[in-house]
Amino acid sequence: ASRTQTQFSSREGFGSTLGVIAATLGSAVGLGNIWKFPTITGQNGGAAFILIYLLCVCLIGLPVMISEFVIGRRSNAAAVGSFKRLAPSTPWFFAGLSGAVAAFLIMAFYTSVAGWVYAYIFKAIGGGLMTADPKVSEQAFNTFVSSVWSPLIWQWIVLIVTGAVILAGVKNGIERMTKTLLPILFVLLLICDIRALTLPGASEGLAFLFKPDFAQITGATVLAAMGLAFFKLSVGMGAMITYGSYIGKGENLIGTGVKVALADTVVSMMAGMAIFPAVFAFGFSPTDGAKLLFMTIPMVFNSMPFGQVFLTLFFILSSIAATGAMISLFEVPVAYLREERNWSRKRATVVTALGMALIGSTATLSNSLLADFHLFGKTLFDLYDYTSSNLLLPITGLAIALFAGWKLSRWDIADEISNSGSLNNKRLIQGYWLVVRFVVPVAIVIVLLSGLGLFD
Ligand code: PFF
Repeated sequence: ASRTQTQFSSREGFGSTLGVIAATLGSAVGLGNIWKFPTITGQNGGAAFILIYLLCVCLIGLPVMISEFVIGRRSNAAAVGSFKRLAPSTPWFFAGLSGAVAAFLIMAFYTSVAGWVYAYIFKAIGGGLMTADPKVSEQAFNTFVSSVWSPLIWQWIVLIVTGAVILAGVKNGIERMTKTLLPILFVLLLICDIRALTLPGASEGLAFLFKPDFAQITGATVLAAMGLAFFKLSVGMGAMITYGSYIGKGENLIGTGVKVALADTVVSMMAGMAIFPAVFAFGFSPTDGAKLLFMTIPMVFNSMPFGQVFLTLFFILSSIAATGAMISLFEVPVAYLREERNWSRKRATVVTALGMALIGSTATLSNSLLADFHLFGKTLFDLYDYTSSNLLLPITGLAIALFAGWKLSRWDIADEISNSGSLNNKRLIQGYWLVVRFVVPVAIVIVLLSGLGLFD
């Protein structure tokens, strides 16, 4: 590789291959798996939606993830800076900026839900969640989120914790937490699955998850599936560009992407198999939305020995998984402020946290004081969620795909993905290149337009 003008020197990064996987997986696995995936799957009819979601993961999410890795590692810069380095004096860096806006909006509602999860650790310890009565379980959740102060304070605690981890630095903070704890969450989900699947009436939940009924699929459903794929894999906002810039030159980018997407999807399905059998067994409805996780999981654990201990552990690990995801969200604006505006890490972190607390509070209050305040027919919470997942992430993802497929040279792409020729993966690169150049842009545009009702 003699064309060194597009290569930039390395900076502080992840220490090992396992560290790379753990950190990217730490970003992907979070509330998306245990909270958003079940919520949206429930609202969109189950199995058929899941199939479309899987298609979106393979054909859109994964190629965009690999593109982000390429852009990040090639430029050795974070979201905005990477575009400026690879395509100086062009407007491409707007893709990085819209990603940073998406990160902000996601944090606004994500920290709210993370606050619920943090709070549920203590509710689990207190014992109030151990009930066999679905009404009590539902009431506990409703009372909590519709109060004014408690969810707000929990949200702020979440921001303080996440900010503290960011301040600890890349290697120490991110890598160490996720590497050790994700496997434990996995085992806990497995225990949950076994209990849920043996509940009387569980088969209905399985049918919901695995027997597709395509009659319910509309343009809006497909858009929801695509938005979820972006959200789940943490792509379409530059988080993986920033992470890509920390990935060592010897790592296999396509391999990393495939492993992360696969593992993430497995975790989502395991959460689905814990929650939906319980939904039917306890007489809830799949369309109950945001509260599904918080109603069903305590009841599943309640019906097994040592349930309270497991439940507490479940929410502790979920909090940690959510925090890992938030760290990557947080990193996008923080990296921008540090590298493009020359702010200190501390100042960037504190200012970002304050901004997120401000906007985030309006999301949290839309379950209490602002419940009747609607903009474009949605509460602020839902509006931030919809705008980020269904609009900003796909649009930024489109820009990233176009950048990788049409702006970067084919030589640069091949050089980066093959680790300067040391990996023998020509065919894979060719396949990736065709997909990112044609399939991803066309698919995103069609899904966006049909989701917004342009073909109705
Ligand atoms: N992927 C995370 C989840 O599913 O919980 C959420 C997320 C993290 C989205 C980072 C976007 C992102 F950049």
